[in-house]
Amino acid sequence: MSDSPIIVALDYPDGAPALALAGRLDPALCKLKVGKELFVSAGPRLVEDLAGRGFRVFLDLKFHDIPNTVAQACKAASRLGVWMMNVHASGGLAMLRAAREALGEAPDRPRLIAVTVLTSLGEADLRQVGVDAAPEQQVSRLAALAGEAGLDGVVCSAREAEALRRERGRDFLLVTPGIRPADSGSDDQQRIMTPAQALRAGADYLVVGRPITRAADPVAALKKIHAEIANFLGEPT
Ligand code: C5P
Repeated sequence: MSDSPIIVALDYPDGAPALALAGRLDPALCKLKVGKELFVSAGPRLVEDLAGRGFRVFLDLKFHDIPNTVAQACKAASRLGVWMMNVHASGGLAMLRAAREALGEAPDRPRLIAVTVLTSLGEADLRQVGVDAAPEQQVSRLAALAGEAGLDGVVCSAREAEALRRERGRDFLLVTPGIRPADSGSDDQQRIMTPAQALRAGADYLVVGRPITRAADPVAALKKIHAEIANFLGEPT
C-alpha cells in the first residue's frame, strides 16, 4: 500500500518502548504519531530518529500561541522532518495563516492540520469559555477558518467526518481518532467507529493507538486492520 491510512499513536511515557515498537513496524504499512507525553519525555531526537527510519511522523503537539511563536514552532518541527503537524484553529486566522506560511510551498512540505473543538468538550463546557454554539456548529466554523487559512485539513471524530467532507470538499484532509477494529474493546473512548466505518464517513487517515500498541502482537493487529480495510475497499489483501 503506497499511502497507508493508518497512523499508529505512540502513546508511551518514554522513548524505549516507542523505538522498540517502531523497530517491529513497516513504514509502508503505517505512519506514526508522536504526542505531548512522548515528545516531552523523549524529545526532538526521537522524532528525527523515527523519520530517519523512513516513517512519516505526525507531530501532535496542537500548537496554540501568538502567530509568530506558532510559526517558528512549525518551522522547527519541519526541520525535524515531520510529515504532519497540528495547531488549534481557535488560535485565530492570523495564527493559522502564519503557521501555514512558515511551512512554504514545496510539494513535500509538512501537512498542517487544525484541531477544532476538543472531543472532551461538550456544549456546557463551550458556554463556560464564552462559545454559544453547539459543538458541531463550532467544529464546522473552525474547519472553515482552517480552510480559509490554507491549512490541509482537520483532526475530527469519525462522527463529524461526513458533514465536514460535504462542507469542505474532497481535498480537505480528515484525520480521525477513536478507531476500534471490529473485534476490539473501546478503552476510554466514548464514541468509536471501525476503520471501515470511518473511511466510509470520509476519513483520509485513521489514528489507532491501544488496539495496536497494547496488542499481544502489534504487527498482527496492524495487518488485521489492513485486511479489514482491504475487505471494505474490495481489494485483494
Ligand atoms: O489508544 P487510542 O486509539 O484511543 O488513541 C487515540 C489517540 O488519538 C491518542 O493519541 C489520543 O490522544 C488521540 N486523540 C483522541 N481523540 C481526540 C483527539 C486525539 O483519541 N479527539
